[in-house]
Amino acid sequence: MKVLFNAREIAQKVQEIGETLTREYDGTELFVVGILKGGFMFMSDLVRHIHLPVKIGFVRLSSYGNSDSPQGDVRILNDIQEAIKGKHVLIVDDIMDTGQSLVAFKRHLESKGPRSVKICTMIDKTERRTVPMEPDYYGFRIPEGFIVGYGLDYAEDYRTLPEIYVLEPDDRR
Ligand code: IMP
Ligand code: MG
Repeated sequence: MKVLFNAREIAQKVQEIGETLTREYDGTELFVVGILKGGFMFMSDLVRHIHLPVKIGFVRLSSYGNSDSPQGDVRILNDIQEAIKGKHVLIVDDIMDTGQSLVAFKRHLESKGPRSVKICTMIDKTERRTVPMEPDYYGFRIPEGFIVGYGLDYAEDYRTLPEIYVLEPDDRR
């Protein structure tokens, strides 16, 4: 596997995003929703750089990848229990690829009457996007390729690596 982004580059980027969020949500409170499992590492690093009153929640999404429906089929496995009506909400995940899971989850949260819902992903992977949406905040943008580490897995492996790697054919076991 080849390192694409090392731990120092990631830490620098996460701090920058945290500073941007601290500025943009100045004077308000933020509810940050992490997507398990992939978003766990980015989420825990990011919230330490948001210098505002922050509350957190986590959800799990499962995708059936149904290509017949425009948004695919996304199921919410452990929805947040907290009320978000009137609140600013930020969704945090590892990567936006096709965009199907995040577009569906965003719509779901919007139905609960929040003041705003935005999306923040560590990686914005652009070439396979099937929905007209981009993350509002992202760390790094790549066109394509399968990457692992810093929360991202291949068949549940590699999630805990502190760097982000490009997975090559020989790494798929
Ligand atoms: P979506 O296609 O944007 O809905 O992304 C769904 C999920 O696919 C992401 O949350 C990741 O779990 C996974 N995924 C997409 N691209 C990659 C990758 O390059 N490495 C690891 N997981 C990925
Ligand atoms: Mg994921």
